[in-house]
Amino acid sequence: MYFPKRPTFNPSGLLVGLCFLSLVSISTFWHLQRNDSYSWWWTISVKNTSDPPEHEHMTPSVSSIRNKDGGMWTVNSLGRLGNQMGEYATLYGLAKLNGHQAYILPAMHQKLAPIFKLTLPMIPSELVDKIPWRKYHLHDWMSEEYRHIEGKYVQLTGTPCSYTFYDHLRHEIRQEFAFHDYIKEDANRYLLQVRGQRKTVTYIGVHVRRGDYITVMPNTWKGVVADKSYLDKAMNYFREKYHDAVFVVASNGMAWCKENMDASRGDVYFAGDGQESSPERDFALIAHCNHTIMTIGTFGIWASYLAGGETVYLANYTLPDSPFLKLFKPSAAFLPEWIGIPADLSPLLPKS
Ligand SMILES: *[C@@H]1O[C@H](CO)[C@@H](O)[C@H](O)[C@H]1NC(C)=O
Ligand SMILES: *[C@@H]1O[C@H](CO)[C@@H](O)[C@H](O)[C@H]1NC(C)=O
Repeated sequence: MYFPKRPTFNPSGLLVGLCFLSLVSISTFWHLQRNDSYSWWWTISVKNTSDPPEHEHMTPSVSSIRNKDGGMWTVNSLGRLGNQMGEYATLYGLAKLNGHQAYILPAMHQKLAPIFKLTLPMIPSELVDKIPWRKYHLHDWMSEEYRHIEGKYVQLTGTPCSYTFYDHLRHEIRQEFAFHDYIKEDANRYLLQVRGQRKTVTYIGVHVRRGDYITVMPNTWKGVVADKSYLDKAMNYFREKYHDAVFVVASNGMAWCKENMDASRGDVYFAGDGQESSPERDFALIAHCNHTIMTIGTFGIWASYLAGGETVYLANYTLPDSPFLKLFKPSAAFLPEWIGIPADLSPLLPKS
């Protein structure tokens, strides 16, 4: 267990933040009562510059909400880390494209703000239900009609996670998902430890998604998860390419990884803690490596996107008639330069 406890959490900072938030909501509520219209929104102006730097990971809460007539766009807050990131980035991309200011819901803020230095402001929870949202459902790839979404108060819905919504803003999206310093430092400290006395190393982050997918993939989606043979091929690809490759493995099925990944060369580190309730440690570790081996899931897609190196992914892991393919377009999920290794689907075929 390489990560120390989160060092900078400070309950008094939380208290100050809470008081601050309630002040904001009381005053906005007052405006709301008085004006009896939605013009209250433009009367709120809150600065967060007073937050001391050691509370960095608590911000941004309500940052500067000062908007003349850009309306307010948001996105639903569904799923865990990878999905939330996909929703955030899609909102960021589409709001910008349509010329509106993006805000996130409190639930999303709660999931993402402790990990990343987000810049989108949060909507105070008291206000969320008072806004006449137009809900607008998205499928998981960019479409022409998404360039012209009508509405001043739009709430995007769905669980989009496709680079086609935001890759033209890659630099900005990476900035949005810049890690808080203490998380970054923890990851780097661990990687230095792995390096030990070696002169050079090339870090390959390996994310092995197991858990619920082991049953969900075959039972619901006519698909498979990554097997031993996929991991061998992917690791050998990097071993051949980089003589100094070391593999940093994170998984929610570490026992399986230890049994199935060949660590006999001394270049495999079973590093992650696999804690699904606090995924940021494993996530940061993979994202700080130079290259990525991913298996299935948006967690791996995002860790690969942030790492920004070569990415090897498991391709074609469902049967062609899988209902999964109605929701998920591989060409919109995996970047064109990523390297796909096709899955072995034989476990799904009838045994003769
Ligand atoms: C590889 O990753 C490490 C850790 O993040 C970083 O320090 C190093 O600069 C990276 N190497 C290259 C060639 O990008
Ligand atoms: C996945 O299947 C499609 C359709 O059969 C094929 O065109 C593609 O090359 C396959 N991808 C990989 C990485 O094998």
